[in-house]
Amino acid sequence: MMNILSLARPEVRGLVVYPGPDLGENSIRLHANEAARALDALALAGLNRYPDVRPAGLTRKMAELYGVTAENVLVTRGSSEGIDLLMRAFCVAGQDEVLLTPPAFEMYQVYASIQGAATVSVPLQADKDYSVDAEALLGACNERGKLIFLSSPNNPVGTVVPRQQIEKILRALEGKCVVVVDEAYVEFSESGSLVSLVAEHENLVVLRTLSKAYALAGARCGAVVASPPLIVLLEGLLPPYALSSPVVSLAELALSSRNIACARKNIRETVAERERVRRMLATCSVIEKIWPSEANFLFVGVTDVDSVKKRLAEAGVIIRTYDDNSQLQGCVRISIGTVDENNSFLDAIRSLG
Ligand SMILES: Cc1ncc(COP(=O)(O)O)c(C=O)c1O
Repeated sequence: MMNILSLARPEVRGLVVYPGPDLGENSIRLHANEAARALDALALAGLNRYPDVRPAGLTRKMAELYGVTAENVLVTRGSSEGIDLLMRAFCVAGQDEVLLTPPAFEMYQVYASIQGAATVSVPLQADKDYSVDAEALLGACNERGKLIFLSSPNNPVGTVVPRQQIEKILRALEGKCVVVVDEAYVEFSESGSLVSLVAEHENLVVLRTLSKAYALAGARCGAVVASPPLIVLLEGLLPPYALSSPVVSLAELALSSRNIACARKNIRETVAERERVRRMLATCSVIEKIWPSEANFLFVGVTDVDSVKKRLAEAGVIIRTYDDNSQLQGCVRISIGTVDENNSFLDAIRSLG
């Protein structure tokens, strides 16, 4: 098996992970030029101290949540940061390429551009429920192609890339290209995560997040799941103390067994609501097509985006439109809200006929 790190930028391979001392509960901390006393307010207790260089406890909890070992997990500030780290680790500016399958999450393009990496687009097949064209993707991947981003379920469409197709791509590109599977919405899908495959495929990276199913978008907390050497490589790019103590404490709290049970109940309710909204939308004359979403949103073709958007705005409902993107013209993305929010949305759209 080829060592996947040989695909990374040489200067990144040479980075040394920031060292953190082994601190016990009762250590006398005279090593980091911190303030010795915290301010008086209870909410600020403990903030005179730096957080852990890397949040070991939260890493363990996220590993347990995802069913992998702690060595397979790098906790990041949202999965967005994971995307950025991958671009910086693997793409030499002005030389390397990133393969995208639009329509896709916009930040892949943004972070590639910031890194100076060219992007090669292999569009999803609009006439085949936006499925991936694996042959075209493999054909477009030459020696400059370092990263492929696939989101499953896809944002904005909500469709899933079949596991066998991803495995085929992984095998074909072993030792040649890193395949990043962004699973931001996987908890809402029946297909299940691919995290267990990181043990078999060193060119697989899975991105996970607490922003969606675990209701922590405000905390900015996600994870890169990959083989241990790749995790160490990416860790070298993170600033020390990247995750703040309040965020680490809140995310650990969110991953208590009680809160996980609550999140799982919310996921079931969101999926049930998604299917109810789908059924109701199917009876509206302004709806032309509803794609088979496995996420917490629906992607929908409408007869006239402007009138739908205007009517919804009058009712105080904001949806995602794509005026600027010809590939998605005529389509909108609707997040699944609470039952009351969904009813307000449905009332407004049904008033159009
Ligand atoms: C497909 C996909 N990946 C990643 C993200 C980033 O999520 P976060 O940075 O909050 O983890 C999003 C956010 O909407 C997304 O849709």
